[in-house]
Amino acid sequence: MGEAKKLYIKTYGCQMNVYDSERMVEALGGNGYVEVGSPEEADMILLNTCHIREKAAEKVYSELGRFKSLKADKPDLKIGVAGCVAQAEGAEIIARQPMVDLVVGPQSYHRLPEMERQAGAGKVIDTDFPEEDKFARLKGRAKAKRGPTAFLTVQEGCDKFCAFCVVPYTRGAEVSRPAARILDEARELVDRGVREITLLGQNVNAYHGAGPDGGDWSLAKLIWALDGIDGLERIRFTTSHPNDMGEDLIEAHGTCAKLMPYLHLPVQSGSDRILKRMNRRHTAESYLRLIERIRAARPDIVLSGDFIVGFPEETEEDFAATLALIEAVRYGSAFSFKYSPRPGTPAAERAQVDPAEADDRLQRLQALITRQQREVQDAMVGRTVGVLFEKPGRMPGQMVGKSDHLHSVFVSAPDLAPGDLRQVRIESSAPNSLAGVLA
Ligand code: SAH
Ligand code: SF4
Ligand code: F3S
Repeated sequence: MGEAKKLYIKTYGCQMNVYDSERMVEALGGNGYVEVGSPEEADMILLNTCHIREKAAEKVYSELGRFKSLKADKPDLKIGVAGCVAQAEGAEIIARQPMVDLVVGPQSYHRLPEMERQAGAGKVIDTDFPEEDKFARLKGRAKAKRGPTAFLTVQEGCDKFCAFCVVPYTRGAEVSRPAARILDEARELVDRGVREITLLGQNVNAYHGAGPDGGDWSLAKLIWALDGIDGLERIRFTTSHPNDMGEDLIEAHGTCAKLMPYLHLPVQSGSDRILKRMNRRHTAESYLRLIERIRAARPDIVLSGDFIVGFPEETEEDFAATLALIEAVRYGSAFSFKYSPRPGTPAAERAQVDPAEADDRLQRLQALITRQQREVQDAMVGRTVGVLFEKPGRMPGQMVGKSDHLHSVFVSAPDLAPGDLRQVRIESSAPNSLAGVLA
């Protein structure tokens, strides 16, 4: 074997991109690449991009600009763009940045090794939506030991077409992977040291994959099958849509001990008028009733959400309804964004809210979320919760891990190792973390 070639990969956007980047590193391992930490030493640079907001997409071009001098010094350097910007803009990327050799959309990653071999001789672009499970064909090299947590994509794409969102265009229609493949991958992760798996999908709770028994499996059914894997201690899933929160999934939150008490359930707005214009197909009231049912199944569940402020035609009254919904839910965390018009989406054509007004609303919303986040976290003090330790903390002898409810927890205990799952009594709460002692 010749000397290993060096791959630098930078990942933007959501957790699915993190998962995809891992798969691409493995697949390019077959072409003789090892991953390195800086673009300067690389023989190939790959940007795994996000198109969700304008800022995210524009970042890609400024990043590419920085690689111009590297390419001038090293003409053999291959530069590739993957992910959702690749899917949305395709050949346009090469028109804007001619030093890019390769553009590959999320549904074509199984072709990446072949494309890498062709790149350099000419430009290669693939943004097709083929009818196959790309992950089944993305076979990697020998598998190394892993940290205690991992992502596992079970579903991809979206058929919901919210009026603001590019995902249905960049990721395509909803596709669920067969349950048997997911279970195999989960067992393999556990063999490599993983104790917590987060199931990923753009609409993960809409999962309906082929079961090994020939039936159509729901996410809850998949979770119960994963529950049977020895050595797998924790299961999480993200991101869910309120309309796909099936009864069996709600129930599993009360009955499946490995399913963690944390749920990311974006609602985007608390105004029915805006929800309708967003094409969300649910109301604020139906969302609140759903939360009640989830809390009835698992009273201590921590909820998180996504919010968009300044959606076209959003008035102060609409915004007040969003704040009221947040007050009613009591979130443990939330992501909030100023609306960003995206080319090709219906809302981009509508009357936009004054940007200064949108900034002001975002600040007010974030102040409320920060307060709630702190209250939910503070309420953990005095409780005993499970903590999966991941890495050493800043102080000697200290370890940090994630609680069942996904809070960061610091514990001073020199004998702990990454991957240990222990009960911890929470003693204090700081702005972004808890501290406790082994119970
Ligand atoms: N599938 C998930 C999340 C998709 S994108 C869901 O259904 O909720 C993640 C978040 O980005 C969204 O929940 C939304 O809050 C935000 N987002 C999506 N498009 C946006 C846009 N055009 N402007 C601002 N925020 C946006
Ligand atoms: Fe985007 Fe809506 Fe689909 Fe979520 S459900 S990915 S916000 S279109
Ligand atoms: Fe971004 Fe694509 Fe994920 S647009 S949020 S990387 S699905």
